[in-house]
Amino acid sequence: MIEFDNVTKNYGGNTGLNNATVHIHRGDFVFLVGPSGAGKTTFIRLILKELEPDSGTITVAGKDITHLKRREIPHLRQKIGMVFQDFRLLEKKTVYENVAFAMEVVHKSKKEIAERVPYVLNLVDIADKADRYPHELSAGEQQRVGIARAIANQPRVLICDEPTGNLDPVTAMDIMKLLEQINIRGTTIVMVTHAKDIVDRMGKRVVAIENGRIVRDEEGAYGFIQEDEVKNFSHGNLSSYDEGLSFDYLEEVEKYV
Ligand SMILES: Nc1ncnc2c1ncn2[C@@H]1O[C@H](COP(=O)(O)OP(=O)(O)OP(=O)(O)O)[C@@H](O)[C@H]1O
Ligand SMILES: [Mg+2]
Repeated sequence: MIEFDNVTKNYGGNTGLNNATVHIHRGDFVFLVGPSGAGKTTFIRLILKELEPDSGTITVAGKDITHLKRREIPHLRQKIGMVFQDFRLLEKKTVYENVAFAMEVVHKSKKEIAERVPYVLNLVDIADKADRYPHELSAGEQQRVGIARAIANQPRVLICDEPTGNLDPVTAMDIMKLLEQINIRGTTIVMVTHAKDIVDRMGKRVVAIENGRIVRDEEGAYGFIQEDEVKNFSHGNLSSYDEGLSFDYLEEVEKYV
């Protein structure tokens, strides 16, 4: 579904991605993890053709996009749904209108829109709030709308950039269950996250990037120390860490302080 082969992207002297090879298959659920500045956003922007790689090849949904023509880019982006940390809903449109608008801009028919919008609102369990405005919703509800909008045009891939970053842990797990349901229905999901607890609990494939390199690709755990923990640690706040510290944990800490 998404294939990176030996992809390198530099920004002047900065490394974005360094010879990265990752194959994401249809139906996969993949967490993309790594420290700040590792190259995660670069990876996503390359999929969306917002950036050009310096070398290597990128294939999305069976099509080599490495040398895509400018006029072919909208068609590529229609195959990809995006979910954002800050929801990015249109404040002056209702829940219904937010989702309908995503279909209008790609010229879906009135009939299709009238059928599909109630269906996706129901799927994300927000149909009862179809006539509300975003500011009348909780953060978790807003993210449900964000997901409804992202899947409205039936994308092949859903890319979620820190979708739970603004949510409390319970709401975050609700959103993860929803994403899992969407994945089970056949949509490939790539999710960028720093949420160690979520990655560890979900037990999905984890692709770890560090300094632009793919350093790990396996099912299971987050594997990095969370950056907020590093911050506390480097400020000498050891109190919350002095019990149950594993040797590996300390080794990880040393890399980042
Ligand atoms: N437009 C740009 N110009 C120059 N350097 C950039 C640009 N975008 C990213 N970089 C650099 O490329 C590297 C990878 O950045 P990227 O945004 O992909 O990291 P990230 O993994 O998404 O980090 P974060 O978790 O903080 O979002 C970093 O060193 C960053 O400074
Ligand atoms: Mg980023």
